[in-house]
Amino acid sequence: MVRKLAAGNWKMNGTGASLPEVEALKAALSEPSVDVLICPPATMLSRLSDALDGSAIVTGGQDCHAAGSGAHTGDISADMLRDAGATHVILGHSERRTDHGESDADVRAKAKSAIAAGLRAVICVGETLGEREAANTLSIIGGQLAGSVPDLVTADRLVIAYEPVWAIGTGKVPTTDQIGEVHDFIRAELEKRFGSGVGRSVPILYGGSVKGSNAAKIFAVSNVNGALVGGASLKAADFLPIVEALQAS
Ligand code: PGA
Repeated sequence: MVRKLAAGNWKMNGTGASLPEVEALKAALSEPSVDVLICPPATMLSRLSDALDGSAIVTGGQDCHAAGSGAHTGDISADMLRDAGATHVILGHSERRTDHGESDADVRAKAKSAIAAGLRAVICVGETLGEREAANTLSIIGGQLAGSVPDLVTADRLVIAYEPVWAIGTGKVPTTDQIGEVHDFIRAELEKRFGSGVGRSVPILYGGSVKGSNAAKIFAVSNVNGALVGGASLKAADFLPIVEALQAS
């Protein structure tokens, strides 16, 4: 049984002026039947965690350093995220892989550190348009999974997000067949590596231009256990219909 998850990734958006959006989510989702996660910028993490205290909505970081502490100007450790109230951390988002040159090995080291600190790692994988057009999607995803996901994970410490790079922030969404093919593949890879117990319990999220208007269709696809939502997570009015579609799926 996989627990479903609706996750919002605010990216580099949000200040104190965004807190009313979180209050609105808290008011509307007093007893959600799915897990709900918001990952604001690090500067907002404590404030969101405080605002959501006593609610079912949890918070997460968008990245962490692989080391526990030390001379790494500008970086944030997994322990610091925990201290700020986070329960999750997004790792290996394609924007980190592209903007900061993060490799699978980097993501794996960060995930190890996050899991050791008691966080749940939301590890992102996804192909570029060129890789899809060259029919390399599954081999790219397989390589990213093998390289980015550490050994010895338990299902409650891992979430996989499939985010085709070409679908992020573009309004372009793969067909349901394309999503299903990749999600079934990820499920099979997880079962092969971690056994059916863990392999069947890790949530696999789809991400890339998810909106209220396409969410129900995406959530009906096999092995889609939720969404990682960027743009449509910034406003409660846009995010709530996605959470509702997941609850209804
Ligand atoms: P988007 O971003 O929903 O704005 O396409 C998704 C993501 O990058 O997680």
